[in-house]
Amino acid sequence: MARDPRLPDLRNFERIVFFTGAGMSAESGVPTYRGKGGIWKEYEPQRYACQAAFDRDPEAVWEFHNYRRGLVGACEPNAGHRLIAQAEATLPHVTVVTQNIDGLHQLAGSERVYELHGSLWWVRCGSERRFSRAVPFDAQRPDGKWWRPDIVWFGDSLKSEVVTKAIDAITRCDLLVSIGTSAVVYPAAQMPLLAQQNGATLVEINPDETPVSKAYDICIRGTAGEVLTALCAGLDEAPAVS
Ligand code: OAD
Repeated sequence: MARDPRLPDLRNFERIVFFTGAGMSAESGVPTYRGKGGIWKEYEPQRYACQAAFDRDPEAVWEFHNYRRGLVGACEPNAGHRLIAQAEATLPHVTVVTQNIDGLHQLAGSERVYELHGSLWWVRCGSERRFSRAVPFDAQRPDGKWWRPDIVWFGDSLKSEVVTKAIDAITRCDLLVSIGTSAVVYPAAQMPLLAQQNGATLVEINPDETPVSKAYDICIRGTAGEVLTALCAGLDEAPAVS
């Protein structure tokens, strides 16, 4: 893809936030939630992704999550994930704030990642937490209790410590690049706009318009992989200006 002249030069910014949604991982083969082939078209969240469903039927909820662990576990980070990790390694200060639960940013090498909606690979029970990429995950414990996916389900609150760190990064950045989110799930949908308080430049990368597109300075209608390739071109060649 020819470089869109509206794309900023990443080297001109001191603090960059990449704010990502399911479209970021689409090119890895992870289905999005909405639109064609979206997960919520096939699986009702009220039956598989809320606390009431888990309380009612933990086995069914785990069947769904084990299916997702299998599917996502077979996927690898795509070029876009790797370019963002490279940006973090090359530029002064890069943060990823993601709604994704797939862990692909970390697998690609990103280190400063805040997962607003939790992770498919962490489970919790009371105050205990455990990381496991086992598929299927054996969720019933010897004491009869169930491990619960440490995911922010519908109706749950976001974790305050994660939100605090994400908002700190967003309000202090001078460039925010939103990639592949439909911007319909709150409070995440509104968070990128907080970057305007600092006079940051806001860029949206998405093949489609979203409800918040009009608030962005630059909207690039393309896929994560192609636009990030153009946006990050040359990062491996020259060191960042510090
Ligand atoms: P959605 O499935 O709602 O939206 C995916 C977005 O990605 C859409 O706007 C698509 O146009 C765009 N898209 C698709 N392919 C793309 C590509 N190759 N490159 C760039 N963009 C592409 O996913 P989210 O906005 O992430 O919550 O959904 C938000 C939350 O809703 C998720 O975190 C999830 C879900 O319920 C939880 O699981 C807690």
